[in-house]
Amino acid sequence: MKEAEGANAKSGLDRGRNQPMGRGKCNLAGWWQNELGSEMLLFNANSKGNFSGEYYTAVSSAQKPIKTSPLRGSQHLDEDGKCTFGFTVNWSKFSDSTTVFVGQRFEDHRGQEVLKTGWLLRHKVNSLHDDWQATRVGTNIFTRLNRKEEGKASPTAPLSA
Ligand code: BTN
Repeated sequence: MKEAEGANAKSGLDRGRNQPMGRGKCNLAGWWQNELGSEMLLFNANSKGNFSGEYYTAVSSAQKPIKTSPLRGSQHLDEDGKCTFGFTVNWSKFSDSTTVFVGQRFEDHRGQEVLKTGWLLRHKVNSLHDDWQATRVGTNIFTRLNRKEEGKASPTAPLSA
């Protein structure tokens, strides 16, 4: 119980409802899922807007099995709920590549939160000659996941510094 309360405080999340525990309209903390089925857990941003999280991608072009991967991000703390943000996912647990996401939070006509993002995925290539084919670009749309702490990605604590 003590541990769960600590994790909640750090993520800024009421985990049972996957809802932010206050702190403005741009609290991104919580579980999110995109249209590929990838899931991420964002922890509460600090007073400067810096945050960490964990990402479980549903897809990969790497040879090794997918593993939950750490992310680091930065967001604006606007009060209008339309903050922009960016984060980097380091896939080093199973891939040599790196992805950076940029995005903005919105609410749709039903009041549901949505993160509209674009990303750049940099693959490792063996030579300068192959640099031209190293970067992929795409978009992802994330919506909040209503899930409890249990689950396949289930990270329970923010990343250490
Ligand atoms: C790799 O394939 O080398 C690592 C995994 C990359 C997953 C990408 S990141 C952009 C896109 N959105 C996702 O949720 N997954 C893919």
